[in-house]
Amino acid sequence: AKGEMPSVDPLRIVAKEMKFLTGNIRKLLGSGHPSLDRAAKYYTQAEGKHVRPLIVLLMSRATSLCPKAPQRQQATLQASAGIDTSISPLSILSDFNPAAGIESEPAHADADILPSQRRLAEITELIHTASLLHDDVIDHSVSRRGAPSANLEFGNKMAVLAGDFLLGRASVALARLRHAEVIELLATVIANLVEGEFMQLKNTARDETNPKWSEDTLTYYLQKTYLKTASLISKSCRAAALLGGADAQTVDAAYSYGRNLGLAFQLVDDLLDYTRSEKELGKPAGADLELGLATAPLLFAWKTIPELGALVGRKFANDGDVERARDLVMQSDGIEQTRALAEEYAEKAIAAISPFPDSEAKDGLVEMAINTLKRKK
Ligand code: FPP
Ligand code: MG
Ligand code: MG
Repeated sequence: AKGEMPSVDPLRIVAKEMKFLTGNIRKLLGSGHPSLDRAAKYYTQAEGKHVRPLIVLLMSRATSLCPKAPQRQQATLQASAGIDTSISPLSILSDFNPAAGIESEPAHADADILPSQRRLAEITELIHTASLLHDDVIDHSVSRRGAPSANLEFGNKMAVLAGDFLLGRASVALARLRHAEVIELLATVIANLVEGEFMQLKNTARDETNPKWSEDTLTYYLQKTYLKTASLISKSCRAAALLGGADAQTVDAAYSYGRNLGLAFQLVDDLLDYTRSEKELGKPAGADLELGLATAPLLFAWKTIPELGALVGRKFANDGDVERARDLVMQSDGIEQTRALAEEYAEKAIAAISPFPDSEAKDGLVEMAINTLKRKK
């Protein structure tokens, strides 16, 4: 019944919450040190897509209508109340209070998204942005979101430290939620991001000069993709459901949605790297091969073109390797197969939340899965 999917604008459904997102994030990132302050907030200037917070907010709203767990200590709901919000903005060694503002509920807030869930949305964007700061150093990127990358603007040292600072502030905000399971989930995400990046650096489980294609090739890639991209989305969906007090089935469904959507999202990302231009992406195109990375389109091509093995083995380092690999991928059905796999995951994501009661937010989540396949950047 794909053709008759509801068409809603996911952004509109949580527009009120999204409106405050960037401002709240910037508040979380305040530092008394002017240049740290600037570097830390740098990637919050350009309008990012805010995919992760958007998903967290939609999931929060959609699961608010689902059955509740028998009884969780209500402690979390009150945890953020009554916190001293006074801090000196000029103090460099500030005990910044990321909970500031969380307890003073503005009048416009809707009842079905909890303050803790909105804070979770901000935390996911902080962790994601921290990973981008580090990623751009590792990838030697020169542009991001249509502007010079942070490493180019501030240098590697400041970019790495800014990323660490974001993780620190995200951790404080997370701890303030006073929900041990949610803290554990998001802390695991940070470790997973590093594990995914490590798997990617290695490219294959074993270092071989002329690796052969096998089913393990795809398994390794998908595991890497889960750790690098889907872990954050899936575990924050799970955390959103947990914060709302949802029952175990709902929590698992939220996780499954996030996992499948995350995998679809990265598959599309890897595909766009082959099909779009730098201008369209707001970041360099064709970057993966240049970085020595064999992603889904190439792995599918490799299955039928053994010649690619030697190129994968030397990470496309010889003159002409990148061009040769690109040509072979374009001649193959690698792009189509990648798209087909992304579609499969998007369908699984939609199926995972089908038991949820009908709501605008649920339609929004379905639309997010569909949009993931349609996105051009
Ligand atoms: C973007 O990938 C990067 C990630 C999804 C995660 C990167 C993770 C790290 C650098 C690990 C350490 C960082 C933290 C904060 C734990 P990409 O390079 O494929 O995408 P791009 O084209 O947007 O650069
Ligand atoms: Mg990168
Ligand atoms: Mg990278």
